[in-house]
Amino acid sequence: MPLLELRNVSAGYARENVLRDVDLVLAKGEIVTLVGANGAGKSTLVRSVSGLLHARQGEILFDGKPITKLSPADRLTLGIAHVPEGRQIFLGMTVAENLRLGGYGAANRSKENEAARLDRVCDLFPILRERFDHTAGNFSGGQQQLLAIARGLMSAPRVLILDEPSLGVAPLLVAEIFQMIERLRDEGLTILLAEQNARQALAIADRGYVVENGRVTLSGRAKDLLESPEIVEKYLGAGAGGIKQLPERSKPMALKLSALIRD
Ligand SMILES: Nc1ncnc2c1ncn2[C@@H]1O[C@H](COP(=O)(O)OP(=O)(O)OP(=O)(O)O)[C@@H](O)[C@H]1O
Ligand SMILES: [Mg+2]
Repeated sequence: MPLLELRNVSAGYARENVLRDVDLVLAKGEIVTLVGANGAGKSTLVRSVSGLLHARQGEILFDGKPITKLSPADRLTLGIAHVPEGRQIFLGMTVAENLRLGGYGAANRSKENEAARLDRVCDLFPILRERFDHTAGNFSGGQQQLLAIARGLMSAPRVLILDEPSLGVAPLLVAEIFQMIERLRDEGLTILLAEQNARQALAIADRGYVVENGRVTLSGRAKDLLESPEIVEKYLGAGAGGIKQLPERSKPMALKLSALIRD
């Protein structure tokens, strides 16, 4: 039985339907990645899993039981933790305070107490121990991302949802974050990863789903997707929207922008 299953799920905002008829399964202990362009519906999909957005149609099962109508808090209590796009950490609070807030819902499932869980996430990310009482607002984008992931782990999740963990993170730290995600999987955690950075996401994932215009258009083993000509052309190759592809006159501005985005 899959740990998480979406059956024919549709979801959207106000009058607009974004996600349409999505089927997806997540087996225990695997990394599944959602690959898709800007605005394809990856965040909408993961929001419907954590309950930040309610499905308008279809069913979501966790551990075989329907959770479609449950609140985000109840889903968190069951073990679904969501590290949102843009991190959403509390910049005016310290590392310690942010981490403690993440512990909500853990008490029911975790054998470890808060102190032990704090200790474990600080072992994973030593910088958090070093800066334990520092205000999160002084962190770089990458450090804030580490904190957001650690905060998610504080809830002792059974599924960790990561939405664009590489966004606004310097390349060196991106590699470290992806290694960390692999390590968490190797320790038994189940991970749903939404990423525009398809190459790096597929490289660590077990399976992937391609989301286009709110629908799943392709899915399979990550290895096979990495080699699929369609994926290479759309999401991995030179045609995937890199700066090289831009007209000559747009390159200087694009380079400036990408430098800004990268911390
Ligand atoms: N809060 C919102 N209210 C209304 N429409 C939204 C909202 N959030 C997203 N959308 C729309 O839903 C569609 C899918 O957006 P979504 O954020 O799920 O895409 P995404 O694949 O996560 O994109 P990105 O890679 O940029 O994060 C887009 O057309 C977007 O404009
Ligand atoms: Mg998104």
